[in-house]
Amino acid sequence: MRKIIINGGRPLTGKVTVSGAKNSVVALIPAIILADGIVTLDGVPAISDVDSLIDIMETMGASVRRDGECLEIDPRGVQDMPMPFGKINSLRASYYFYGSLLGRFGQAIVGLPGGCDLGPRPIDLHLKAFEAMGASMTYEGSNMHLVAGDKQLHGAHIFMDTVSVGATINTMLAAVKAHGRTVIENAAREPEIIDVATLLNNMGARVRGAGTDVIIIEGVEKLHGTRHQVIPDRIEAGTYIALAAAVGQGIQIDNVLYEHLESYIAKLEEMGVRMTVSEDSVFVEKQEQLKAVSIKTSPYPGVATDLQQPLTPLLLKTTGNGRIIDTIYEKRVGHVAELAKMGAQIATRSNYITYQGPNELIGAQVKATDLRAGAAMIIAGLMAQGQTEITNVEFILRGYSNIIEKLTDLGADIQLIED
Ligand code: EPZ
Repeated sequence: MRKIIINGGRPLTGKVTVSGAKNSVVALIPAIILADGIVTLDGVPAISDVDSLIDIMETMGASVRRDGECLEIDPRGVQDMPMPFGKINSLRASYYFYGSLLGRFGQAIVGLPGGCDLGPRPIDLHLKAFEAMGASMTYEGSNMHLVAGDKQLHGAHIFMDTVSVGATINTMLAAVKAHGRTVIENAAREPEIIDVATLLNNMGARVRGAGTDVIIIEGVEKLHGTRHQVIPDRIEAGTYIALAAAVGQGIQIDNVLYEHLESYIAKLEEMGVRMTVSEDSVFVEKQEQLKAVSIKTSPYPGVATDLQQPLTPLLLKTTGNGRIIDTIYEKRVGHVAELAKMGAQIATRSNYITYQGPNELIGAQVKATDLRAGAAMIIAGLMAQGQTEITNVEFILRGYSNIIEKLTDLGADIQLIED
């Protein structure tokens, strides 16, 4: 296993560029199965989730060429076959193959998805949408067999009981080649959904309303190849903005779309964080006194659940006390016990986190309990006096492109070593 060693307390300064969005690209790659031509993606992040998805695509018969951030995929060789079970339980986003295989072949034989342990992560809304579109499911061991009557899905009017990013995107993937019209009500509005809809429409699909809570899809016969630029990763951006406010002496974060982070930036300003927001970058100054605030996550455009963990170490620097309520994943508290090991005054209560600041963190041996908790531990390690050792770092490398290099360029004393 690999681990990250940080010698903290150093002032960081300089520039960092945000990469393409993980939560977009993990849907864009499976979506390419729907095309009858080559699709090229630009701005693909260097993260292990992408490596896993390329491996799955190639195993299923696609040909893939990767040149830095450019990914060229020819899906025409993809076979109508069971998904490679052993490979797909490494990441939750493998469920997007359900929608794209159903959309292309009218059937999908898949294992159940994996991913971070954030508490129960059901897929009932995905399956309910597929059933409404004419798919039935049977279970063979740990494999699930989804098959549409006559191998052809039909349009449906679907109301999502819960706002779900994955179920919204998966339903779009199944619907673009279904017979007739599909309406998704109470759809999620995240920017990644707009990004997937943009790719699909550039492939010839007819998707309207992405980014609102009602999405209408008119099924088409064929989808062709295209070229697509992945949107910037708003969660990576938010992570580096929090890091810059916590340990920076002036850091510029480039490739940031302000409209993707409005509620988050408003919260930072409420804390007293001084920053300059321009068209596609944010400059964060060295911070002085910051005020404790409370955070409540909610679906986009609210403060993202993925950002409450990376934001927590900065909250520990503020003066006062506050609460963090994650309304999407109540159990997303893995970072709390690890931060307490570093001397933080932080604890979990029934369905929220409570903290008191300011705190002087001390380096310790800690672990990444999930992807975004891992990012929080890196920021805490950079803040702390002394050495911090982080294990379970594979989580972090799933979602943060070139994070060791990016932090080293800012002046951090950070290493990734084989244990
Ligand atoms: C996506 O996960 C993101 N992952 C998550 O980011 C993010 O935290 C989440 O959306 C926020 O909503 C990817 O995009 C790959 P959901 P997803 O369906 O789609 C419940 C990260 O750190 N639900 O929007 O799996 C669910 O339990 C990751 O990058 C059902 O009840 O999340 C949750 O409470 C972590 N039934 C709520 O909806 C379902 O069928 C929102 O989940 C599906 C979801």
